[in-house]
Amino acid sequence: MRSPTARLSALALTIIAAPAAVVAVLGYLSLRQWQTSAELLFREQARDVAVMAAQKVDMMLRHADEAFLDRLQAQLTAGAADAPALDRLVAEAPLVRRLYLVGRDGRLRYPGAWRDAADAATFEPVVRALPPAAWERGGKRPTVAGTSACLAMLRTARGEPVLVAYSRDVETLRRDVLAASLAGLESPTIVAVLDAAGRPVYSRVPLDRAERVLAVGLGEALPDWQVAVYAPPGTAPREVVRRQMMMFTGAFAVLLAILAIGIVLCWRLMRRETEMAQLKSDFVANVSHDLKTPLSVIRMFGETLELGRVPDEERRREYYRVITRESERLSRLIDNVLDFSRIEGGRQRYEWVPTAVEPLVRDTLDAFTYPLEQQGFKIEVSVAPDLPDVPMDADAIGQALSNLIDNAVKYSGAERSIVLDARREGDRLALSVTDHGIGIPAAEHARIFEKFYRVGQSETQSRRGSGVGLALVRHIVEAHGGAVTVQSAPGQGSRFTLWLPLGASIEGPHGSEGRHGAEGRHGSAGASRAGQGGLGGPFEAPHSD
Ligand SMILES: Nc1ncnc2c1ncn2[C@@H]1O[C@H](COP(=O)(O)OP(=O)(O)OP(=O)(O)O)[C@@H](O)[C@H]1O
Ligand SMILES: [Mg+2]
Repeated sequence: MRSPTARLSALALTIIAAPAAVVAVLGYLSLRQWQTSAELLFREQARDVAVMAAQKVDMMLRHADEAFLDRLQAQLTAGAADAPALDRLVAEAPLVRRLYLVGRDGRLRYPGAWRDAADAATFEPVVRALPPAAWERGGKRPTVAGTSACLAMLRTARGEPVLVAYSRDVETLRRDVLAASLAGLESPTIVAVLDAAGRPVYSRVPLDRAERVLAVGLGEALPDWQVAVYAPPGTAPREVVRRQMMMFTGAFAVLLAILAIGIVLCWRLMRRETEMAQLKSDFVANVSHDLKTPLSVIRMFGETLELGRVPDEERRREYYRVITRESERLSRLIDNVLDFSRIEGGRQRYEWVPTAVEPLVRDTLDAFTYPLEQQGFKIEVSVAPDLPDVPMDADAIGQALSNLIDNAVKYSGAERSIVLDARREGDRLALSVTDHGIGIPAAEHARIFEKFYRVGQSETQSRRGSGVGLALVRHIVEAHGGAVTVQSAPGQGSRFTLWLPLGASIEGPHGSEGRHGAEGRHGSAGASRAGQGGLGGPFEAPHSD
């Protein structure tokens, strides 16, 4: 048969791992699909934005060009196109950096010469390569050669064609055209204009760390330039999906952890329940055996006496004593079990009466006189003389003490000596039972007070017991507002101490009873209280009679 752990692991695997794997795969696939469609949509939107921006810039630029050429044509038609007038015209058109007019013969008409070598290199080849048909066709529409060089064919007042060549001022272009047309563009993305070399000429906001999505041509007005759309850091669909993925994975891991913890807790609960069931069945077996032994002794001795087979008077008395002692043991055992079940059911009641300690100790010990003598125990009793009467349920405390003495007897080895000691420590009464028996390992100190628990050593197991004695002891002293402690080591004996409040107050686990305590201290006989509680359940504060 497979072990419970193996079965549980298999169970955990099927109920956690398999569905978890399915959910993880489905989650991953749907996120991937989502990423693809989100990227597609994002690109489409970016393209729309870019195209719109390009059209806007193109339109503005064309308007500006046409306005300039219209004014120039007007001057040419009016025959007022002398050098100073043209200088003025250029000065008034900030978008135009330099203006040249070339005649049909290829000679510069305005100004006298190319203003610098760069202009000469830009315009001269274009002018020379112009086909004759272009001169005849004419037209205001500018032909653009490169970014900053524009050409247009106008006519003078006498109808002669004149080639207008001009270059654009990039700074003005950036400020007056690009900034003006792109600034108002509402979009989460960044729109930028790149020059022929791919360098950004203009961008709405700084481009640092932004990711380029796509670029489209700017149109006829600026053929080498491009409008590019950038995604600011963290807004690209891929990154958004990555964040989602991380969140999903995190939430999933937490879910798995919770499931795993749940299973572990469940498993522990199951184990505890199984243990408890085992302890209970041991308990039944132990109690039955404990009841049977004294009963058979009583029966045997009773029958022997009845048959009159004991002629010796001394022997007969001895037999009577055995019967008495065994029936006392039986009563103790039954009391223990009954009280235990009352406590378990929350029906145990205590009656607090101021009690002298010395007689209580003696009376309790008296019940053990015979077995102690029989087994050759050396008993030492020391009760401090200054002890006041202590408010307590004398029967219950006597029973607790009996259990400690019973254990001391039961778990003693070769060294048979027991010390009973009652003393005052601060505002508490300390009642100790010390033996030199087999002792208890430190790891078991807490567990021996649990119900049904017995130390799993062969020495313990060879001695009969039901495992409820110390659970009862603990309940009784705690109901009195006290505690029980143990000092013990294997092979070195044990010392169990009952701590009880001396009298100023009785502090149950749920509060204190000042009035009652005061009565107890003064020895008032009528001061009697009853309380009840369960072994694991809450203790109810005593009610007034
Ligand atoms: N004086 C002691 N010396 C060594 N071990 C002890 C001593 N007292 C208690 N123990 C250990 O603690 C366990 C619990 O004690 P407890 O009195 O509750 O049960 P029990 O003596 O086995 O049975 P019961 O008292 O119900 O007949 C014991 O089984 C024993 O292993
Ligand atoms: Mg016991």
